[in-house]
Amino acid sequence: MAHPVDPTTTSAWQALDRVQETFEPDLRGWFAADADRARRLTFDAADLHVDLSKNLLDDQVLRHLLELAGQVGLEERRESMFTGERINVTERRAVLHTALRAAEGAHVEVDGKDVVPEVREVLHQVYDFATKIRSGEWTGVTGKPIKTVVNIGIGGSDLGPVMAYEALKPYGQEGLELRFISNIDPTDVHEKTAYLDPEQTLFIVASKTFTTLETLTNARLAKKWLLDGLIKHGAIHEGDSDQALNAIARHFVAVSTALDKVAEFGIDPANAFGFWDWVGGRYSVDSAIGTSLVVAIGPERFEEFLGGMRAMDEHFRTAPLERNVPALMGLINVWNVNFLGAETHAVLPYAQYLHRFPAYLQQLTMESNGKSVRYDGAPVTTETGEVFWGEPGTNGQHAFYQLIHQGTRLVPADFIAFANPCHALQDGGQDVHELFLANFFAQTAALAFGKTADEVRAEGTEETLVSARVFEGNRPSTSIMAPRLTPSTLGQLIALYEHITFVQGVVWGIDSFDQWGVELGKKLAQEVGPAIEGDADALAQQDPSTRELIGYYRSQRTR
Ligand code: F6P
Repeated sequence: MAHPVDPTTTSAWQALDRVQETFEPDLRGWFAADADRARRLTFDAADLHVDLSKNLLDDQVLRHLLELAGQVGLEERRESMFTGERINVTERRAVLHTALRAAEGAHVEVDGKDVVPEVREVLHQVYDFATKIRSGEWTGVTGKPIKTVVNIGIGGSDLGPVMAYEALKPYGQEGLELRFISNIDPTDVHEKTAYLDPEQTLFIVASKTFTTLETLTNARLAKKWLLDGLIKHGAIHEGDSDQALNAIARHFVAVSTALDKVAEFGIDPANAFGFWDWVGGRYSVDSAIGTSLVVAIGPERFEEFLGGMRAMDEHFRTAPLERNVPALMGLINVWNVNFLGAETHAVLPYAQYLHRFPAYLQQLTMESNGKSVRYDGAPVTTETGEVFWGEPGTNGQHAFYQLIHQGTRLVPADFIAFANPCHALQDGGQDVHELFLANFFAQTAALAFGKTADEVRAEGTEETLVSARVFEGNRPSTSIMAPRLTPSTLGQLIALYEHITFVQGVVWGIDSFDQWGVELGKKLAQEVGPAIEGDADALAQQDPSTRELIGYYRSQRTR
């Protein structure tokens, strides 16, 4: 097995270590001394305009970070990904989410076979299905058109579609609503099926493996809800299995790599859309897992979404590293985490429609880079994945920004905004989008440049209150802007973060495409089941704390 380069042994890392020892960030000074700093550190990638100049780095740091990229073989590893090598070492799989958005006619091989024709074929099946739903040609069992499509999935089979559906709400079709069930908390099924008409509801069961407990349980609950509802409406008769099968065929489709399991579940394989093991769950929104999104925005807009991702892929694959935005952002994250001690990273979209984007990024980044062994099984030699979190602005400003501005922790933040609003509203002649964006611009400036004690005093502040009102500044941020939030720019943003995540994983020598860390909890949940139900032997096998908690549960549970 090939071994990753230990980044800490490279001369670039050691140089960064030395720089860090005496490093004194000085954004005020750096901008004052270099009138060109903002221009030199702002880059365009497809339609994204990315300003890195408010990060805590000077030319020396940037040079060493780029050397580090060379010394860990970033470009070679990137090519291995794009050309279908099995870089997901622990699962022995290729990593080809980029092939999902390859142009029609492009050629991407896995084990000697071009996968693009198959990708396009499935996409066209999804497009046909979505078009029939949108036009009303696809009807429920009683002949009525579908009004609500409910996606049942979790993790990558939920977060991407729901985030993109929310982000692209203005592109939706009137009269066609989407809902998303993910949690095995029965509340989720209850709430998301509330007030729906079973005759006009269709479920998409989305699961790469088709073994996920949450999804299969929720799919069974949905099946029961549908059949009970149809019986109640007199649309089908209790006990008539042919009618039930026919109803399931009209109201259930599936997306999975395991089409045999889909059939076992009772969904007609003709209503199932496949994908491949070289697509990771958290990288799958652009596969058939995005079927709900295609229903919402239509095939044409979905093609624009794929086109946006492809534009970012091309940028990442071809732009020289010193102008390569995903590479630079990934390397700056490494600098923040490994040299400046950042433990978290805030993502702050100034776009209400991106309200699920931070949650989506949490799976993308943390399931990918939350690892403590490298892909050859050896322990990592440095800190890895930071905690990603965030909320849309300006809501976050009135909640947690205090800590980012004046707390003791370094919290690098990505600010995202669009020049044009989705809804242009005026308040007494004032363009509200401008009021909104004024906050976006002001926050990054406040974080970077702060307010000195002298500036506070000059406002006439009483001396005892001065220190509480001082802003140190030198809080790093990246500003990402685009003309407007469209399917294309959303696709670009997603691909940008996919590639940033990849870059960090390459530096740390980890497999960013497996997720073994989620397995133990799943197994224990199965083992604990009998104990909860009252099996004394199973209870005795639990640790004292868990035993006590189960005891409390059993004493309180009423039925
Ligand atoms: O448990 C984690 C995980 O495997 C994710 O990686 C994945 O996105 C999610 O579960 C759902 O998996 P599936 O699509 O196979 O149901």
